[in-house]
Amino acid sequence: MCNKLLLPYTTNGSILLKPLLVLIFIGFTISCKVNSSRIYDYKKSFIAEKGMVVSAHPLASKIGNEILQQGGNAIDAAIAVQFALAVVYPVAGNIGGGGFMIVHTSGGKIDALDYREKAPQKAHKDMYLDKDGNVIPRLSLDGHLAAGVPGAVDGMFKAHERYGRMSMRNLIQPAIELAENGFAVTKQQAKNLNEKRADFVRLNTTQPVFVKETTWKAGDLLQQKDLAISLELIRDLGRTGFYEGSTAKKIVAEMKAGNGIISLEDLKNYKSVWREPISGNYKDYSIISMPPPSSGGIALMQMLKMVEPFDLKGLGFHSKEAIHVMAEAERRVYADRATHLGDSDFVEVPIDKLLNKDYLKKRMKSFNAFSATSSETIKSGIFNGNESEETTHFSIVDAEGNAVSVTTTLNTGYGSKTVVSDAGFLLNNEMDDFSSKPGVPNFYGLVGAEANAIAPGKRMLSSMTPTIVLKDGKLFMVLGTPGGSTIITSVFQTFINVAEYEMTMTEAVNAPRFHHQWLPDQISIEREGFSDELIKQLQNKGHVIKKRGGIGRVDAILVLPNGKLEGAGDVRGDDAAEGY
Ligand code: DON
Repeated sequence: MCNKLLLPYTTNGSILLKPLLVLIFIGFTISCKVNSSRIYDYKKSFIAEKGMVVSAHPLASKIGNEILQQGGNAIDAAIAVQFALAVVYPVAGNIGGGGFMIVHTSGGKIDALDYREKAPQKAHKDMYLDKDGNVIPRLSLDGHLAAGVPGAVDGMFKAHERYGRMSMRNLIQPAIELAENGFAVTKQQAKNLNEKRADFVRLNTTQPVFVKETTWKAGDLLQQKDLAISLELIRDLGRTGFYEGSTAKKIVAEMKAGNGIISLEDLKNYKSVWREPISGNYKDYSIISMPPPSSGGIALMQMLKMVEPFDLKGLGFHSKEAIHVMAEAERRVYADRATHLGDSDFVEVPIDKLLNKDYLKKRMKSFNAFSATSSETIKSGIFNGNESEETTHFSIVDAEGNAVSVTTTLNTGYGSKTVVSDAGFLLNNEMDDFSSKPGVPNFYGLVGAEANAIAPGKRMLSSMTPTIVLKDGKLFMVLGTPGGSTIITSVFQTFINVAEYEMTMTEAVNAPRFHHQWLPDQISIEREGFSDELIKQLQNKGHVIKKRGGIGRVDAILVLPNGKLEGAGDVRGDDAAEGY
């Protein structure tokens, strides 16, 4: 039985008293008894002296921490964690997907690495429409045609080339061993695998290891021999061990066996890109986050600038007034996202204009303290409730003070659910992040326009928001989360929880969250965290309130005034903090 922590919610929507939370979380060790012989002992919240890794899986956090202790820097640890998650967290960890990395070195250099997937050369604007111009349901989500050209492996080599200290060999080896020897799945993983069984059977040309005769139980061993071989090829041959040669051929053969369009040229030509991060200030804090093709950095800065003039602290955590002002900022930001944002290598994204102080002030002119502003009336987004949202984020700080913030994904849980035959890894379904048709919502209910239309070689717009925060020029916080469209609002609220409400990192990560994304015109709230009275007060202001399950899974690190590191893995998942 897994010793599950309850979310620290109270019924009146306020957080519990800080000392109590500190007792509950700091140094709390979870004993997750899986099959008596296989036990994960891991910490959700932890204070370390030197280095810290917080990720979605205890084994990945452990590997990252070991790399730090062997003298690797934060980038080395991030590379090892990315490969480890591809094995122990197949729902989102990947080599068949992509992601973003934000770096802040101890010397003050900042960087943003874009290893987002790209549309294959054979992709075209209307590829998910029927002859009448309607979107064909699930074509951009399920199976071979949903996959973009993977970026993760190229990204790891690019990161290593600029910042790595240990050999790539040593950073990939722990993942190979986990794939070869197997690992015990957690209760949550067993549940996920069972739920997706029928999809795995339907969407694969050969049966993947994720399908077994009996149902998965916590503690069952998941061995991935084919994946081990694919990882060995990367270890031995570098990026060509994935993008050329036998693995590339296996990907293309898989495409031919299904309905896919990724070619050998697409793979060979894939390149991750170093970009200039989005940076801006909120009071004494400097925010460093992801530029396009993610909307995350721009949207986060817009939200922060819109709420900066309000006294959020005075209004109180989760008071109806504070939620109202934050939700109204969120609404306006997502409206901008839908129209203006896309891959800046293909379309002009008016970054300066979107972040202009006067522009943001003007956007909040229509804010009414007493009532909700109605969202415009293009087709409202519909959430597809029966598929898990899965991406994964990890945060790392090393002993020298280098920090890395990575969000990586296959898009929805297990991506396209298609495993490359004989290669053992899942392909993403990131093509759904494009706007298949203007105004028609994607899986996350997000609408888009021309700026995010499909084009060969283009990257699909993302919400992933790996972020690093400095205070008075010094490293302060590393954070990020999965959650599709809710990523940006989760990062926004987690930071505000610390900056305005003086929460510990652990409290901030575990506090209940809400989300507004313009369309659909509603505030989504976590089922457990908001009192009936608060809901009524928000409804009285004209907000439509929709209850839902957990929003995001934030993994974050806070540098404490004494220089120690507080790591916090979200109670909503198996997330774990490891440090030394
Ligand atoms: O890039 C994006 O915005 C989405 N593909 C992220 C998906 C995601 O976060 C799923 N997770 N929970």
